[in-house]
Amino acid sequence: MTDKKPMRILSGIQPSGVLHIGNYFGMMKPAIALQAEGEALYFIADYHALTSVRDPEALRENSRRVAVDFLACGLDPERATVFRHSDVPQVTELAWILSTVAPMGLLERATSYKDKLARGMAATVGLFNYPVLMAADILIYDSDIVPVGKDQKQHIEITRDLAVKINETFGHVFKLPEARIQAATETVPGIDGQKMSKSYGNNIDIFGDEKDTRKRVMSIVTDSSPVDAPKDPANSTIFKLYSLMASKNEIADMRDRSLKGGTGYSDFKKQLFEKLWEYFAPMRKRREEILSDKSYIEDVLARGAKRANEIADQVMQRVRAAVGLR
Ligand code: TYM
Repeated sequence: MTDKKPMRILSGIQPSGVLHIGNYFGMMKPAIALQAEGEALYFIADYHALTSVRDPEALRENSRRVAVDFLACGLDPERATVFRHSDVPQVTELAWILSTVAPMGLLERATSYKDKLARGMAATVGLFNYPVLMAADILIYDSDIVPVGKDQKQHIEITRDLAVKINETFGHVFKLPEARIQAATETVPGIDGQKMSKSYGNNIDIFGDEKDTRKRVMSIVTDSSPVDAPKDPANSTIFKLYSLMASKNEIADMRDRSLKGGTGYSDFKKQLFEKLWEYFAPMRKRREEILSDKSYIEDVLARGAKRANEIADQVMQRVRAAVGLR
């Protein structure tokens, strides 16, 4: 039997600050490309952000801004369903149902929970349960493909484990989703060479102002090779970031000049800044247009919520019937 339904693609992004180019190349760009290949659903994960954001006004404002920024980067609301997580509250019901089969040990092994505790976040039940809510986010739309960066891989594995547990216990309820991770952009480095992350403070923002963006690019950490010395592009954050945006010829040119010596890191950083600024220029323009129409983003999110609810209601009916509710 062939399944004629279009492939369903789902991903989420937390509104816990402004978006950076790690989000863009790791998830947003691949997700935007995938919107032409099936039914795409992309949401602003405000329920998740509650685990770290304690200012209600900031959460509301960030959620709106992340939606605007995602659209400015090329998300097309005529093709993709764009919505707020909290506009589909059924997802918290599914998270509860999944939590009743989720082994403690599985969640205790979740690396992102351990990382967050190591960075000083309070050990709340919400933080611990984060992967269960994320599994519900994915399973409630019968998702096939989940485009994410590498840091989310374990969460998708947990999602599959929980789907299997439910299927083994109650019969076939869920399809098993797959992570879609782009090898070339799975972990975009930040200005200190570690994974770019808002919480590490090493981010370069997509829509940062010019002066600040230049300053951040100029402060990328390098080794102390003198100008004359050859420089290995494989160890250079500048080169890695430049490669995400430049053409093949431009990349080859920077590689050659690095290996030859004679060019200092500050010249390469200036070149990176120019490329970055040019790359995101059309998105900055689009963003201004979106921001100039106050009701546009709310209309998009309201339409998105309607469609997301339709799918979630259907799946929840199936889940409730399977587990013995109503
Ligand atoms: P979040 O908001 O931390 O990040 C959004 C997406 O950006 C990717 N990303 C990166 N990719 C490559 N290099 C980087 N330096 C980098 N930094 C961030 C992340 O991998 C992610 O894909 N838990 C999720 C949000 C979420 C979700 C979901 C995702 C909630 N429910 C359901 C998919 C499906 C998160 O915190 O992403």
